[in-house]
Amino acid sequence: MSTEASRSPYEDRVVHEYDGIEEYDNHLPRWWLATLYGAVVFALVYWFHYQVFQSGASIQQSFEASMAADRRAAAERVRRAGTITDDALLTLARDPSTLAAGRAQFASTCVVCHGAQGGGGIGPNLTDSAWLHGRRPTQIMHTIMEGVPAKGMQAWGQQLGMERVLAVAAYITTLRDTNVPGGKAPQGDVPTD
Ligand code: HEC
Repeated sequence: MSTEASRSPYEDRVVHEYDGIEEYDNHLPRWWLATLYGAVVFALVYWFHYQVFQSGASIQQSFEASMAADRRAAAERVRRAGTITDDALLTLARDPSTLAAGRAQFASTCVVCHGAQGGGGIGPNLTDSAWLHGRRPTQIMHTIMEGVPAKGMQAWGQQLGMERVLAVAAYITTLRDTNVPGGKAPQGDVPTD
């Protein structure tokens, strides 16, 4: 029932009219369309970058990278501070590059007596809970520095120097209580601290 009086200025856009109620085909505002197409383009770029070509770092990867950077920075602070405490050695053990250096040092110098996995051989098992000279990080470091020459464990401090001893001691703290299969029977006692 469209009369002169009810004619709307949008008459040319009327797509449907019933009982004086009109439905218009209005153009979407440009800014709105821009956000829509913008979102579509963004989604495509995002999809190809992260999912299809995987050229972007995933959230997991960036998280791990920033954790590693944090741990490296903490290890640097410990080195600069120069005081060796249990916590300092544990901080070094959390730094991937220190740990890798320690593992490499262990592989080249210590495995002959302590086994490839640290399970022991001529020397004691370093992966159980029993220790002859203490399980605390600083005690382990001390054993490595000074050795137990009478029992066949040489003092490594002179030969390796501080940085390498720190790294290998940090690595050994990560072996504690891992109980690798086929390890040597426990020697010493199980310390409570
Ligand atoms: C020639 C053999 C030999 C080599 C090489 C050797 N160790 Fe040992 N290590 C021993 C022996 C034997 C003992 C046990 C000493 C004792 O009975 O008091 C020992 C003890 C230890 C302990 C103390 C374990 C405990 O129960 O308290 C640590 C830690 C250790 N060694 C680390 C190292 C590291 C790190 C290296 C390499 C830099 C290394 N050892 C190289 C023979 C060796």
